[in-house]
Amino acid sequence: MKALVTGGAGFIGSHIVERLLNDGHEVVVLDDFSTGHRHNLPEHSSLSIIEGDISNYDTVKQCMSGIDWVFHKAAVASVPRTVNDPVGSSLINYLGTLHLLEAARQNKVKRFVFASSAALYGDEPTLPKLETMCPVTLSPYAVDKLASESACGMYSRLYGLETVCLRYFNVYGPRQDPSSPYSGVISIFTNKLSHNEIPTIYGDGEQTRDFVFVSDVVEANMKAVTEKACSGQFFNIACANKISLNHLLKTLCELYEVELNARYEEARQGDIKHSYANIDKARTLLNWSPSIDLKEGLSRLI
Ligand code: NAD
Ligand code: UD1
Repeated sequence: MKALVTGGAGFIGSHIVERLLNDGHEVVVLDDFSTGHRHNLPEHSSLSIIEGDISNYDTVKQCMSGIDWVFHKAAVASVPRTVNDPVGSSLINYLGTLHLLEAARQNKVKRFVFASSAALYGDEPTLPKLETMCPVTLSPYAVDKLASESACGMYSRLYGLETVCLRYFNVYGPRQDPSSPYSGVISIFTNKLSHNEIPTIYGDGEQTRDFVFVSDVVEANMKAVTEKACSGQFFNIACANKISLNHLLKTLCELYEVELNARYEEARQGDIKHSYANIDKARTLLNWSPSIDLKEGLSRLI
């Protein structure tokens, strides 16, 4: 197959690219390198890299020629960044998705997989989160993910484009860039601990996240293009585990064999208190389940 991976130079995208190449597929990466890096991508005869912005429709159209599968990962992935710039981020996180869907429809793409997010459950108090729950959008990021999912569903129903939305919970693993304060918390904490620095916890540290290792997320993406029964659907992708940040830091300190206390600062605006998934739907319809628990994943990462 020929696959387009938007955001392929980023953390999750680059692992999908690696898997597709290993499986013998041809890959086109579209990335503007705003948070992704060229060094995340291998030199490979079946890989072409296009530097461009998904908010430019002409660029998107050029990349779509002859594509069978689209893995749409490009986005402003940081919730606080979208809080600071709701209009700018929406041009990428929603309009960019619409550009990709429309170009995919015109080019008769076989499957379109969208990187959605647990962020759209917001502070809906019921736990664990089920796909049937009503979204509560607490950030521009969540609004754009919800609108993008809605567009994916509409493209399936109206135009017959086969779309699958994967609602990732908190993904971690190698190549997650720790360099910005907006990076994923595990990449920041491991980076701090390996440099003997004190991590900061925003809030009381009792907020919870459902962390999932990146290779499990890659596997979910492969299922999303190969399993017949999942077209037009959206799925929680997580480990079905509720981990507090205090517990996360304690586990990391044990693995690094250090003793330290975090610095505590005010909770972030738009931050969700608890995030924890029910993954029965993915187990049943997507034929997917996670294989790496937190301790194993953190050990591999370290
Ligand atoms: P990332 O920042 O490492 O990757 C995003 C990639 O998109 C980067 O390579 C970046 O350069 C590229 N990009 C950004 N804006 C672009 C634009 N306008 N045009 C072209 N390329 C652009 O982030 P990630 O963690 O790998 O996230 C990948 C996707 O998964 C995102 O859609 C994100 O919202 C979603 N997601 C991530 C998580 C997580 O825990 N990491 C959880 C839920 C959903
Ligand atoms: C993350 C993803 C987002 C995804 C969502 C799905 C990133 C950057 N964000 O958002 O794309 O849609 O999961 O669930 O990958 N924190 C600290 N100290 C730090 C950094 C963070 O205490 O140094 C806290 C945050 O306030 C938050 C938790 O850790 O409570 C997780 O933060 P973060 O890793 O940024 O992820 P989410 O905001 O959950």
